[in-house]
Amino acid sequence: MVVEMKNVYFQAQAQEIVHDFSMKFEDGKTTALVGPSGGGKSTVLKLAAGVIVPSAGTVFFRDKDIWYMNREQNLAFRKESAMVFQDSALWANQSLYQIMELPLKLHFPSMDKKERDERMNDILGRVGYRRQLTLRPAQLSMGEQKLIAFARAMLCDPSVLFLDEWTESLDDASAQHLINFVQERQSQNNTIIFVSHDFRAIKKLADYVIMIIDGSLSQIFTREQIMEDEDLAQRLQEGISP
Ligand SMILES: Nc1ncnc2c1ncn2[C@@H]1O[C@H](COP(=O)(O)OP(=O)(O)O)[C@@H](O)[C@H]1O
Ligand SMILES: [Mg+2]
Repeated sequence: MVVEMKNVYFQAQAQEIVHDFSMKFEDGKTTALVGPSGGGKSTVLKLAAGVIVPSAGTVFFRDKDIWYMNREQNLAFRKESAMVFQDSALWANQSLYQIMELPLKLHFPSMDKKERDERMNDILGRVGYRRQLTLRPAQLSMGEQKLIAFARAMLCDPSVLFLDEWTESLDDASAQHLINFVQERQSQNNTIIFVSHDFRAIKKLADYVIMIIDGSLSQIFTREQIMEDEDLAQRLQEGISP
């Protein structure tokens, strides 16, 4: 098991946002989180990725409680996993170059500048970003910010991906391009958990689809169910709960 969430709750401002959520995410499998807006998908993904602390319950990464890892274990976990946030979460006061450079400096301290630059340019080329790296995030469109956030996430060659609406705000061709990129990661046996309203991505990538409503796990569907049941596929596509 790569990630396991056990009876996880999340509260903020006296409001229960995630309620008794349990789920096991298996090695090499891809899981899509779907459901109505405001239902808690992004919060569940952040809990799974160890970005926010549960109010109750436990999140395990390879059988270790994420919030009780020592520094070394935590660094290894951060290197092995990567997240694309729904709002891209790029640092406003840094150039794109600085934003891209940081994870490489942190996780590959022996890499020299030339190697870092090569790695950055390779990933940026592959995601299709072609503008300058001296720009700051505010100078980019939302779609371009997503490309940079995606490229940053892929820099350290992670094997566990947490992707929140990573094709949102992109034109069709770019979205398709990033879906293909993730499909390539699947063939390398990555474990992927993603939130999407893009039915192309769900249909192409998901082994499992989890419906989240009002902060709770409502239903789990397998790939076969979605492929065979056109009605269900249609409802998922329309974002309506069954
Ligand atoms: N830190 C927080 N403080 C207060 N409310 C929050 C916080 N995080 C999320 N919420 C609220 O929880 C609900 C679920 O949010 P979210 O997980 O982003 O849903 P989704 O991704 O499904 O649209 C929303 O109503 C959101 O406003
Ligand atoms: Mg969201």
